[in-house]
Amino acid sequence: MAGSNNPNITSPRWLLAELSYKCPLQCPYCSNPLDYAKYSTELSTEDWKRVLAQARKMGAVQLGFSGGEPLTRPDLVELVAYARELGYYSNLITSGYGLNEAKIVELKQAGLDHIQVSIQASSQELNDHLAGTTSYQHKQEVARLVKKHGYPMVLCVVIHRQNIHQMPEILAMAENLGADYLELANTQYYGWAHLNRDALLPSREQFSKAEKIAQDYKDKVAGKMKIYYVVPDYYEDRPKACMNGWGTTFLTIAPDGTALPCHSARELPGLDCPNVKDFSIEQIWHESKTFNFFRGTDWMQEPCRSCDEKLKDFGGCRCQAYLFNNDIYSTDPVCSKSPQRSRIDAAIASAEKNAAQTEQPLIFRNSKNSKAF
Ligand code: FES
Repeated sequence: MAGSNNPNITSPRWLLAELSYKCPLQCPYCSNPLDYAKYSTELSTEDWKRVLAQARKMGAVQLGFSGGEPLTRPDLVELVAYARELGYYSNLITSGYGLNEAKIVELKQAGLDHIQVSIQASSQELNDHLAGTTSYQHKQEVARLVKKHGYPMVLCVVIHRQNIHQMPEILAMAENLGADYLELANTQYYGWAHLNRDALLPSREQFSKAEKIAQDYKDKVAGKMKIYYVVPDYYEDRPKACMNGWGTTFLTIAPDGTALPCHSARELPGLDCPNVKDFSIEQIWHESKTFNFFRGTDWMQEPCRSCDEKLKDFGGCRCQAYLFNNDIYSTDPVCSKSPQRSRIDAAIASAEKNAAQTEQPLIFRNSKNSKAF
């Protein structure tokens, strides 16, 4: 790769540092790759510092520390302090497992701006079942400590068929915890969520009912708690503008240093994703085949190519197109103009059939199951 810049390419704004695939939880909807156990090597502290500095120099302003569970990295505080020195707005995306008051104080002193804690459900029984780990009480405590130490209280609950019936209780729990923001993120079906889709995808009726409850609650807590309801794209008729357009805004670095335009991109065939150990962020962003693959519109096929909405959704999600059509260039099948839309409808019907019969057991995200891929 040459090191020259293309002036038509915007800079990365959002850097997601997936520090480690290690995680004490086993959520069956995890967005990490199914075969994550193959990638057990992790970047060193110095490697991460170089990545943070190079991306910041290019204009990245938002930094998410994620994983796996980023708290499994012993150098997290050091990296947070370095990010502050560089001028990032930093966010810790955590299950809360491994977080205690002393660590929150340390992170605050190091300059961490934001902590987002995920909770799996509103009841201990379901939370601990979905997490595959006893964690509910601890998460509640962590949420309170986050608030106590002056952070905005940001709760994230991933919504799916196993917990969607708890929507009223989830909303009440967030309010009781004093959440400033509640993200109700309907599951996106990649990675482990895709594997468990028949057991996770809610029906249209369940989704509509839950959305109405969340909308009504939004009005009730207006000015006190902000609720973001991320809709499941299977029930839309236009695809999402995934990652705000490939290689325009988001840069993800996997634990082993692989640079990805989206968290699922390493599952796409033929991309040959570059590694930060071999190339600078500037080279990767501007010159790599991977980051240039779906920039612009030249790669599009019909119906995207002649569609007047192509600059709005960029043909939708490349990973979803591959998962459903085995063709990375095809239109995201969520789109009603896609010749493969019936495949999304078939996935919905399959999940409904599974719900009506004996539910298949969930396959949990853990290294034993990962080694099967
Ligand atoms: Fe990869 Fe949408 S998740 S492009």
